[in-house]
Amino acid sequence: MSEPPHYCEGAALVETGDGFFRPASRPARDSGVLLARTLAAAGPDRPVRVLDGLAGCGIRALRYGLEGGATAVWANDADPDRLPLLERNLARLPVAVERQMSTSTAQQLLAGCLVEGRRFELVDLDAFGCPAALVPLALEAVAFGGVLYLASTDGRSATGHDRRAAVRRFGAAARAHPASWEIALRLQLGLLARTAWAMGRGLTPLLSFSEGRAFRTAVRLARHPAAGEEAQLGLVAHCHGCGDQQVQSLLRLGRWRPCTCPGAASGEGPALAVSGPLWIGPLQDPGTLAAMLQQAEEGGGAHLDRPGRRLLQRLQDDPAVTPRCWPVDAIGRHLGQGPPPLAQLVAALRAEGFATAASGVMAGQLRSEAPWPVIVATARGLVATKAAR
Ligand SMILES: C[S@@+](CC[C@H](N)C(=O)[O-])C[C@H]1O[C@@H](n2cnc3c(N)ncnc32)[C@H](O)[C@@H]1O
Ligand SMILES: [Zn+2]
Repeated sequence: MSEPPHYCEGAALVETGDGFFRPASRPARDSGVLLARTLAAAGPDRPVRVLDGLAGCGIRALRYGLEGGATAVWANDADPDRLPLLERNLARLPVAVERQMSTSTAQQLLAGCLVEGRRFELVDLDAFGCPAALVPLALEAVAFGGVLYLASTDGRSATGHDRRAAVRRFGAAARAHPASWEIALRLQLGLLARTAWAMGRGLTPLLSFSEGRAFRTAVRLARHPAAGEEAQLGLVAHCHGCGDQQVQSLLRLGRWRPCTCPGAASGEGPALAVSGPLWIGPLQDPGTLAAMLQQAEEGGGAHLDRPGRRLLQRLQDDPAVTPRCWPVDAIGRHLGQGPPPLAQLVAALRAEGFATAASGVMAGQLRSEAPWPVIVATARGLVATKAAR
């Protein structure tokens, strides 16, 4: 009989079986492993217990044990046909790593953890569709100081294509926006924050990214909210007419400033498209990203391939302190001519004193705290200077 096909990733060798498996999701798996390693690096005697709630073939659970420094892994997948595969794959775990496998639904699994008082330093939920229903129980399963690493493939409701579903799932308005992945990640973080706060807990986003198909956020759970954490929930407004964007915290909610459209000052401009409540604070934690990259550099066993490294470096370069993002092409449309190179625009706006970066979340986008008319004028100036040369 011929051997079933095997797949190699990092230190893991697995059979992927007939069920869902995407080699292209490797950067997400590498990131999870490096998150676990940063937890393991916090102290030699600290346990790193990992719950992989939608484990598929178990590749993540195996990599957490082989590379992430996990002391215990629990791999669960609701498909009972996957259990023999999970058992074969996790047989490759080091003997010292405690292991458990199950075929519950994630809801049953997490409810069981709550009943039994089980907590994990890392809970990884790589969900199909929208994981909103899992969030309260998932947060209950995270130890204080631990991490919830959550994926959603529900792009429609979070990017403004199904507004009713966004209200049902996020309790929020989701409108079409030029930085749609960014808004989707912020809606997910907003839901996580509101749920954590309702439980009396606090959270810090550690990393947030997407390739347009899955929306992935990792947050660190704290016993209590940090001072001022509630100010990070707010609304984002976008004018489809002039392109202006505004942000308000729910704590200081007031009137929207008139946008730059003709008639806006007298209330006759186009209506703003408002999304939220959503997370308006930083999407990334530069300290955690630096620690993850350092773990990968140190060669202590955690693998990070080139696309994964580029992703983490991109996120590190843009902590995403403001949600205001524009595609450079959209800036070009407002200029009525080709836009300046993104790097030049970033440098020019920084030189003017505005916090600005190339978005780490969506390629070809500018993130800036500069007023929209300043952004357009700066871009116009750069284009004119080039034309005059
Ligand atoms: C996105 S795949 C997991 C892929 C895996 N994490 C990886 O990196 O290769 C989602 C898995 O969740 C399982 N699943 C679907 N609904 C579930 C539920 N409610 N509870 C637990 N597992 C579920 C599916 O059988 C599928 O294997
Ligand atoms: Zn306008």
